[in-house]
Amino acid sequence: MKVTVFGTGYVGLVQAAVLAESGNNVVCIDIDEDKVARLRRGEIPIYEPGLAPLVEESIANGNLSFSTDAAEGVAHGELIFIAVGTPPDEDGSADLRHVLTVARTIATHMDSKKYIINKSTVPVGTADRVRSAVSEVLAERGRAELEFDVISNPEFLKEGSAVADCMRPDRIIIGTSEKASEQKMRQLYAPFNRNHEKILVMDVKSAELTKYAANCMLATKISFMNEMANIADKVGADIEAVRKGIGSDPRVGYHFIYAGIGYGGSCFPKDVKALINSAEQLGLSADILAAVESRNERQKHYLLEKIDAHFGGDLKGRTFALWGLSFKPNTDDMREAPSRVLMEGLWERGAQVQAFDPEATEECRRIYGERDELKLCDSRDAALAGADALVIVTEWQQFKALDTAALKQALREPVVFDGRNQYEPEDMRAAGFHYYCVGRPDTAGS
Ligand code: UDX
Repeated sequence: MKVTVFGTGYVGLVQAAVLAESGNNVVCIDIDEDKVARLRRGEIPIYEPGLAPLVEESIANGNLSFSTDAAEGVAHGELIFIAVGTPPDEDGSADLRHVLTVARTIATHMDSKKYIINKSTVPVGTADRVRSAVSEVLAERGRAELEFDVISNPEFLKEGSAVADCMRPDRIIIGTSEKASEQKMRQLYAPFNRNHEKILVMDVKSAELTKYAANCMLATKISFMNEMANIADKVGADIEAVRKGIGSDPRVGYHFIYAGIGYGGSCFPKDVKALINSAEQLGLSADILAAVESRNERQKHYLLEKIDAHFGGDLKGRTFALWGLSFKPNTDDMREAPSRVLMEGLWERGAQVQAFDPEATEECRRIYGERDELKLCDSRDAALAGADALVIVTEWQQFKALDTAALKQALREPVVFDGRNQYEPEDMRAAGFHYYCVGRPDTAGS
């Protein structure tokens, strides 16, 4: 099928590459000339496992191309995805400027029936606004007879496993009330609808709300567990035992109930805020989501409080080794990352940071530039040299095996603050560490 994708960010690029790989002819349109030039050379602007070979292969066999020419893009695709960003406005609501600009661009250039598919995460009612924008421009052009439908088809991919998620989705949500659109979408997704039926067809508003409800439910699970971890701290319980105890009930499940130092990334924080805002605009108050958000903000300060307490509130002149900068493993994304709150808090208190991350060092340099209180290191060992304590922020696989003897030698004091509960407190105690983690009893080394 002939497909056009507007927007070459995470969602657009992965979707385009996966659709091209399954034999569709896909053209990607982006206004960023430099990015398009790089993509044409097969250079991927984001770190995402498995994406580069997929893009290269499809460029080589002619199924995938990149352009800044919107007219060419509209002429090419019968199915046109809108996968541009919806950054939060000042008040947290999703900014639809880019989505509506693309809608008008499509209407400006279309000359035949188009299926316009909303892939961006957009508030309920956006499909209607896209529809109005397209109709308006068509009327201005005197081409009101041209047919089109606006379909909601939200994306559920996770950064770091985006390609796999997109190739093997849990579900494929198609929001439309038109039979022809449903059929086109079924045809497009047939290669991904294997093993069991994954396609769920619903009205467009339900599809739009499903995306927010999914992310907000997951964010709620995390904030709930973080709240339990805080209670566990005070009563001397172990959140890891509690996690196993409640996860074994299939109604709760084992996924997404790991306590930590808060969720970050481009989706959860933004989508929780946007749904709170939508509820307010409807005259409702999203009490649960407001609590989810405030727990998350506080959770990002969790380790700072433990660090303050350990060093008697005086961090001036101290140096902290930080392992992990990205908001989660297997990505270089630092948007809303807990590492930022932590580093900024340490700097405010007059401390230095020596940080290592397997992928996010460049991103960190882009955000903070060169500064005296930040040393970006190229190995986990380099980050440790001469530091007062180690702080673990992101659970990268390579941090899992710990050489406690070497660690003890590198640090000035045997102190570890672990925001992701990577090690067994008992093992750390036996190895002579003062080990702080989340929702588990702190252990002073023996
Ligand atoms: C999320 C959704 O999972 C995905 O379906 C949606 O399409 C986009 O948003 P992503 O932001 O890539 O994906 O990251 P995810 O793996 O879901 O992790 C989100 C955050 O939650 C991370 O900061 C992670 O550290 C945190 N988390 C996750 C926890 O603190 N505890 C958990 O148990 C799980």
